[in-house]
Amino acid sequence: MQLKISRLLFIFNISLLATVVSCKKTEADGTITIASKEINSFDSITIYKESFRPQFHFSPEKKWMNDPNGLVFYKGTYHLFYQYFPSDIVWGPMHWGHATSKDLIHWENKKIALYPDKLGYIFSGSAVVDINNTSGLGTIENPPMIAIFTYHNMEIEKAGKTNTQSQGLAYSLDEGQTWTKYKGNPIIGNNSLKDFRDPKVFWNPETKIWNLALVAGDHARFYSSKNLINWNYMGQFGKNSGAHGGVWECPDLFKLKVENSTVEKWVLLISINPGAPNGGSGTQYFVGDYDGKSFKTNQKDIKWVDYGTDNYAGVTYNDAPNNERIFIGWMSNWLYARNTPTKNWRSAMTLPRKLSLEKIGDNYVLKNSPIQQLKTIIIPEYSEELLTIQANKKIVFEYNHLNQSQIDFKALAKNLKLTFSNEVNDSLVLIYDHKMNTFSIDRTHSGLVNFEANFGKSIHKTETPNLTTETLNYQIILDWSSIEIFLNGGVYSFTEQIFPNKPYTKLSIQSDEDQEIKNLNISKIKSIWETNSTSKTTKN
Ligand code: FRU
Repeated sequence: MQLKISRLLFIFNISLLATVVSCKKTEADGTITIASKEINSFDSITIYKESFRPQFHFSPEKKWMNDPNGLVFYKGTYHLFYQYFPSDIVWGPMHWGHATSKDLIHWENKKIALYPDKLGYIFSGSAVVDINNTSGLGTIENPPMIAIFTYHNMEIEKAGKTNTQSQGLAYSLDEGQTWTKYKGNPIIGNNSLKDFRDPKVFWNPETKIWNLALVAGDHARFYSSKNLINWNYMGQFGKNSGAHGGVWECPDLFKLKVENSTVEKWVLLISINPGAPNGGSGTQYFVGDYDGKSFKTNQKDIKWVDYGTDNYAGVTYNDAPNNERIFIGWMSNWLYARNTPTKNWRSAMTLPRKLSLEKIGDNYVLKNSPIQQLKTIIIPEYSEELLTIQANKKIVFEYNHLNQSQIDFKALAKNLKLTFSNEVNDSLVLIYDHKMNTFSIDRTHSGLVNFEANFGKSIHKTETPNLTTETLNYQIILDWSSIEIFLNGGVYSFTEQIFPNKPYTKLSIQSDEDQEIKNLNISKIKSIWETNSTSKTTKN
């Protein structure tokens, strides 16, 4: 190997207040090991310090969470509501939990926003700010925040009828702190449909009227309204398009500019469960045109927002600054969401991600990658301009922060294998196979996998025809029980849960071809829940 010790200095941040020692050794087989020794393991029951607890992803202080709901930005604050069951760590009568953020990185836990009532549990939905008070529920001086959600009525379900789901409205006159249910609920009734839910309300900038998309089993339906209360059915999409391995859920519909062009397209997100490429739940998307009534697309293939197993029910912010389209998904999968080995709480959200649209060949590709603000909690610890790796030799980094880290680099578009491991032989393996044009994630030996039959069953392999560049950009983010991988700025993203028995402490990089790694950075990511961070918890 051609490495010089002087170029392998770790850059340590003194704010870590920990003794870190680095050393390098070359073994007989040519393996180079670069080591940093510092022990950091969370194994206590203090809230936000439990085993597997994400340190910079949002997770509720305690109990069960699923879909993100009501994502809206208002007066400098990002609101995140979510499907919440405050009495257990499995799914139950749904409430809307609530958290807020000024930067989408640090979160403040708020009081529960919506409780079930006689019309039903509060299922997924969305929120807008009714800035012109079209609903009349506030005033021009103090416009109402409006949430539109699905009621799921258990009495109707128990009576054996299908029309369990209808759409309800609630409003807040104090910037989302407290909510009042609208007296005329439901605002969109249901006579017969079994699946009729997850309304996404938005202001249509083209037709200048409120629009709403919801799902009805195997298709999406579109509505419009002048006042957010009375809705007219306009059209539907999807019976014969896209993936139908499971029921359609959690739609979103928005316009995006195609990068490097003046063209704008509408993007429709549809989550389906089951039927995702690697099993269970996943989110597909369609790129096309929408005129306020119907959505049309020429798209023949099925496209997925994320090719990992754990990014579901993701939707985007209304009214985000600078017209940005920010997406948050639920970092789990209905296959095993109820069985994951955490205590006190269950599941987390993905990092907030910026969506963009790129035309690659004839193909519109929806890219997603972490928002820029993530940089504010990244502590660079090691960087290297160029590493050359000879065929069948490996470079091993020994590093105790791997479970709370970002690894980013560029590599030639050639075979590459990355292995994260620990002293108890857990290993998480990522492989880019250039000839086959596939990327695979093998979590079968990544740690605890037997808590549910499907979790560690198979290697997840994805075809990657849209990786067309000569060097590939890798951005990999680990946060104790998750890994998020972004290739070429999110042309492909993969999100997976992992439950290592011990923190990963080694990363090996190897290839069966000569490889070049450029601009490698290994960074620690700060916890957002430590006492000096601005994240806060508020007891309900
Ligand atoms: C998606 C979903 C939604 C529903 C909610 C219930 O994960 O099934 O369709 O509104 O969860 O919690």
